[in-house]
Amino acid sequence: MPTAQEFADEFERRFGARPQVFRAPGRVNLIGEHTDYNEGFILPAALEYETWAAAVPRSDRKLIIHSRARNETRSFDLDAVSPQPLGDWTDYVYGTALTLERAGHRLTGADMMITSSVPIGAGLSSSAALEVSIGYALVSTAGISLDPVSLALTCQKAENDYVGMRCGIMDQYISCLGVAGHALLIDCRTLESRQVPIDAGVRIVVSNSMVHHQLAGGANEYNARRAACEEGVRLLQPALPAITALRDVTPELLEVHKGLLPELVYRRCRHIVTENARVLAAETALSGGDVVRFGDLMDQSHVSMRDDYEISCAEVDILVDLARKLPGVYGSRMTGGGFGGCTVSLVAADAVGAFIPALRNAYQTATGLVSTIFACSPGAGVGRLSV
Ligand code: GLA
Repeated sequence: MPTAQEFADEFERRFGARPQVFRAPGRVNLIGEHTDYNEGFILPAALEYETWAAAVPRSDRKLIIHSRARNETRSFDLDAVSPQPLGDWTDYVYGTALTLERAGHRLTGADMMITSSVPIGAGLSSSAALEVSIGYALVSTAGISLDPVSLALTCQKAENDYVGMRCGIMDQYISCLGVAGHALLIDCRTLESRQVPIDAGVRIVVSNSMVHHQLAGGANEYNARRAACEEGVRLLQPALPAITALRDVTPELLEVHKGLLPELVYRRCRHIVTENARVLAAETALSGGDVVRFGDLMDQSHVSMRDDYEISCAEVDILVDLARKLPGVYGSRMTGGGFGGCTVSLVAADAVGAFIPALRNAYQTATGLVSTIFACSPGAGVGRLSV
């Protein structure tokens, strides 16, 4: 990554004007996977890896955007009569702009440039970082003030409707509202959140399986999981008329009524209802300094994702199993949408230095793949950089 200053200088050379620069982070989810679109609970933290969007307004309604990573410049018309998704990175950009407009926010055209340190396809939410950085840049450039929850909802809608990925609110929410040094316990029904400080004695370590999640299943599998949850609610409703989402079903209730569900739908639902319970228990554990209990819940979460929700893959399972055997590890699980991507491990602060090379070597020996592994400190949500 360039420095913010260098990035602004580069923009100025390309577009002939000094830009404002906005940043939005990727995220790691500590626990609570696929619970967001079931109106449940999640516990993510923003990363220090982020996407930057530089922008100056234009006097017309064109968006001219240059991607440093791809070294390509594309242009879009905010007044296009029938905009069509193109199936590439620009869908996140143009989709966000159009969704803002459709929500009644009149934008100006803009010259823009983007760069990112969030690895793509690693389950660390590079898409949300792009949407949120673009959305924030566009509203700021147009002089519109939008509260962070509304910005998150708009970016989610862009991904749902324009990109065609039926994601929940987690990634956009934490990218907008993340708090340095903290994870957020988010109630995905009320969209309220509580800050949970990370115990000084532990570090959050993210390890990349190097299996790219789009290639390994991607949006179709994700959308299929979501459909199974909706099917579960529909089949349970005759017995439980008060429920509107799996959030309303406890593990005990699911057991009582499991006869109403086909076996596969039952297992999908069991992941969600037990995961919600684990998130709440994990938050209590972390707040009370009980990192051993927190780690156990992470381990249980992984088993549930692997066996009931079936969103892991062989390499990720290996990475999790290897991590758990190393000294100072409290727990380890896959993080993010699944089908590859990263794991998150909770590791004693004084063991991290030895943990990282040991895991990298063991994973390489087992799979031939070289994992990128880093300890992270939770960062802040979307904002402006001074340049
Ligand atoms: C992806 C989605 C999120 C969430 C996670 C799984 O990151 O964008 O909304 O569903 O998967 O927890």
